[in-house]
Amino acid sequence: MTIGICGAGIMGRGIALNAVLCGHDVVLVDVSDTVRQAASEWVSQQLDKAIEKKKLSADDKPGLMSKLVVADNVSAFAATDLAIEAVVEKADVKVQVLSSIEAVLPATSILTTNTSSISIASLSKHLIRPAQFAGLHFFNPAHIMKLVEVIRGPRSSDDTIQRCVDLAVSLNKTPAVAKDVPGFIVNRVARNYYNEAQRIVMEQASNPAQVDVLMKGIGFRMGPFELMDLIGVSTNLDVTTSQWQQFYMEPRFTPSLLQKQMVDAGLKFTDGE
Ligand code: NAI
Repeated sequence: MTIGICGAGIMGRGIALNAVLCGHDVVLVDVSDTVRQAASEWVSQQLDKAIEKKKLSADDKPGLMSKLVVADNVSAFAATDLAIEAVVEKADVKVQVLSSIEAVLPATSILTTNTSSISIASLSKHLIRPAQFAGLHFFNPAHIMKLVEVIRGPRSSDDTIQRCVDLAVSLNKTPAVAKDVPGFIVNRVARNYYNEAQRIVMEQASNPAQVDVLMKGIGFRMGPFELMDLIGVSTNLDVTTSQWQQFYMEPRFTPSLLQKQMVDAGLKFTDGE
């Protein structure tokens, strides 16, 4: 398949690497010159690491790199079978990007969004072919994490959901079809991991480093604060805010003032540890 990915940030480049390693051709688009360059270099470095670890032959690298085309505009998606939108977690930006992708995609192709929280219903109403639209939610790091949530919107067709499931399987992922409810499944559960940890710190009952150590001590791979840093403190706050708003300001999902301050200051929770 030829897959178009719009947004070459943390998620877009990880999905792109996963797809080329699984034999797909990828067109990766970003508005930022710097991000496009960084994404190409990152994919190349990840392939080098795989070669060092003897998971890949050095002879395979040129062929894999030739499967990745990086472009500055979604008009490059004109021959793609499926497109994945992976731009910032802002509904207005996603609506604009999804509409511009739909305008150039072949009429038989599938359009998806990697949104963490925004309702598929609310995005689909702006599209001409809502039946061919669904959520395709990868997890970070996208080339490593096995789970992909396939989100069925109220207007997604069975064929669209099946094609998303088939794509996930072709990427060596484990797809889970989820309903279009705020935060879907994983992020709804995960909000409590982040929010309660921040409440503990705001009450001065503990500090981020200690909370992370303790949670890893009982078996979590990462503590809540280092996980928020990996995701991006700002992206994580956008997801919490979006989920809280969609649940009509449900108190247990209330975003934390601590996180807002970290975003305003451009800080990570693990800075200075
Ligand atoms: P990011 O901020 O790393 O990357 C977003 C990219 O989109 C940036 O490079 C930006 O230049 C680009 N962009 C913005 N407007 C654009 C436009 N109009 N056309 C083309 N490119 C544009 O964000 P990240 O973390 O990759 O997140 C992307 C999406 O994936 C969000 O919806 C997020 O909620 C979701 N997601 C993020 C996860 C994470 O751990 N960071 C995990 C799972 C989903």
